[in-house]
Amino acid sequence: MKAYTLFFSPTQTGATVAGTIRNALRMDVGGSFDITKAAIEKPFGADDIVVIAMPVYGGRLPALAVERFQAVRGNGAKAVAIVVYGNAKVGDALLELTDLCVDHEFQVIAAATFIGEHSFTTNEFPLAVGRPDATDRKNAADFSALIQERLDAPGSLATPSVPGNRPYKDAMNPPPLAATGFDPELCTRCGLCETFCPSGAITMAETGPQTDGTKCIWCCACVKTCPGHARKIVLPKIRETAERLYANFQERQKPQWFLAE
Ligand SMILES: Cc1cc2nc3c(=O)[nH]c(=O)nc-3n(C[C@H](O)[C@H](O)[C@H](O)COP(=O)(O)O)c2cc1C
Repeated sequence: MKAYTLFFSPTQTGATVAGTIRNALRMDVGGSFDITKAAIEKPFGADDIVVIAMPVYGGRLPALAVERFQAVRGNGAKAVAIVVYGNAKVGDALLELTDLCVDHEFQVIAAATFIGEHSFTTNEFPLAVGRPDATDRKNAADFSALIQERLDAPGSLATPSVPGNRPYKDAMNPPPLAATGFDPELCTRCGLCETFCPSGAITMAETGPQTDGTKCIWCCACVKTCPGHARKIVLPKIRETAERLYANFQERQKPQWFLAE
């Protein structure tokens, strides 16, 4: 059996968690499939196990992540479904990801929620900064050990029940406004923001990076990857959300996992 990761992860926290879980399994390491920037057509097979990670956006999966997953086929591969959230709420995202994997012919044998630094974090309103951290990575390895135990035991592996409701809560419907802007004094035109933007919302012009609000998914990957700290969150609604989250979701949440009894 070979273990793979597959993720939609604009700010890389989900990619990190998925890799940690995959690497702690005692089996051959397969590739990593990154669907953040583009869909991939990937048929897996019954001898594969795939750790699949997506972020929580407004208690749901990002619509773009679901779209990018469309051409992935499990063909009976085992899946570990992971959603990563910014220490606030998971909503129905884990149930949605588990259902999505089943719809795509994966056999979901384990599922979990992990915590990643919130995309909206700022110096003023720090949110889950630095997560996943060493404790989360240790938790991820513990989770892998439990998965491995199940895989090694004879008998069939059932799909666990996970928290969430059907129909899922309404998806976020953000107005078509760019979340981020840039400081022309600090911008070196390096183009990394354009490279890391998952939705093609950023294009480099002579005057600097231009952001198309109709394509921006508010992921803030451009802010986090800008080496000169030129990219900033400019949308007041996001700054207000960060302030509200800072006031209400300070208590450290722990990863939670779900395996069938
Ligand atoms: C548009 C948007 C909505 C979000 N909604 C939630 C949420 O409902 N609950 C939460 O705890 N975190 C929320 N987050 C934070 C992300 O889930 C978190 O930062 C996650 O680690 C991002 O994953 P990635 O690094 O793999 O992209 C949201 C982030 C964005 C950009």
